[in-house]
Amino acid sequence: MKTMQTIAIIGASGNMGSAIPRGLAKGNYRLLLCANDLDKVQTVAEEIKSSHPGAEVAVSDCSRDASWEADIIIAAVPYSAEREVAEKIKAVANQKIVISIANPLNDTYDGLVTAPDTSAAEELQKLLPNAKVVKAFNTTFAADFATPVIDGKQADAFVAGDDQEALQTVVELVETVGFNPIVAGSLAVSGTLERMQLLLIQLNMKNGYNWLADWKILHH
Ligand SMILES: NC(=O)c1ccc[n+]([C@@H]2O[C@H](COP(=O)([O-])OP(=O)(O)OC[C@H]3O[C@@H](n4cnc5c(N)ncnc54)[C@H](OP(=O)(O)O)[C@@H]3O)[C@@H](O)[C@H]2O)c1
Repeated sequence: MKTMQTIAIIGASGNMGSAIPRGLAKGNYRLLLCANDLDKVQTVAEEIKSSHPGAEVAVSDCSRDASWEADIIIAAVPYSAEREVAEKIKAVANQKIVISIANPLNDTYDGLVTAPDTSAAEELQKLLPNAKVVKAFNTTFAADFATPVIDGKQADAFVAGDDQEALQTVVELVETVGFNPIVAGSLAVSGTLERMQLLLIQLNMKNGYNWLADWKILHH
């Protein structure tokens, strides 16, 4: 059996930050749930322990300490908060996998705030030059984590990154959650994945799917 990996989830009180560890609880991971509001994140930890009594879950209000302990760090925060988070964890993220899940949407959901030749993931890599940034989970909705299998078929989840070992580790993590991982390419592909999600949002807004009202609140 592989050594248990520790995963720090920064923003674990949020929609994605709570959905991801719920999905990972069945795996061989130690989960460090990190958020400013310890009460909120404690509730998430208790829910996980009650549904998966064997799960190793701890909470922290310090993203730096949690990232220091972690093998893998998930930045489950809005794109606008990533610079601040990166500054806090930079010294302890060297050579670690940092997962970028952000969609850098503008306030009106009709464009991205990033320049056309870059992406949220590549900007995070610039902020954390010694970490191994991998893009994942930006095209899966928080609500999908409860039902990653639809009509007997696993929903696809795209993964992109430059470090092959880190990519493989994230592929396994995505599989544990229950999605079908698809390696889309190098980290430079992240811009396409982020724009794919923007297009999906725009189509959904145009077609007025029922879940959009909830979903719009969740994406920023
Ligand atoms: N929701 C989705 O379905 C979905 C799908 C794919 C990708 N994403 C991406 O996932 C990320 C999170 O989205 P979400 O919907 O989960 O957002 P959310 O529910 O608002 O959660 C955001 C989390 O980030 C924390 N946070 C905010 N600013 C912070 C800062 N400066 N430092 C540390 N923590 C901070 C919040 O903590 P406080 O509550 O204490 O502020 C909260 O725990 C976004 O980048 C989004 O684009 C979302």
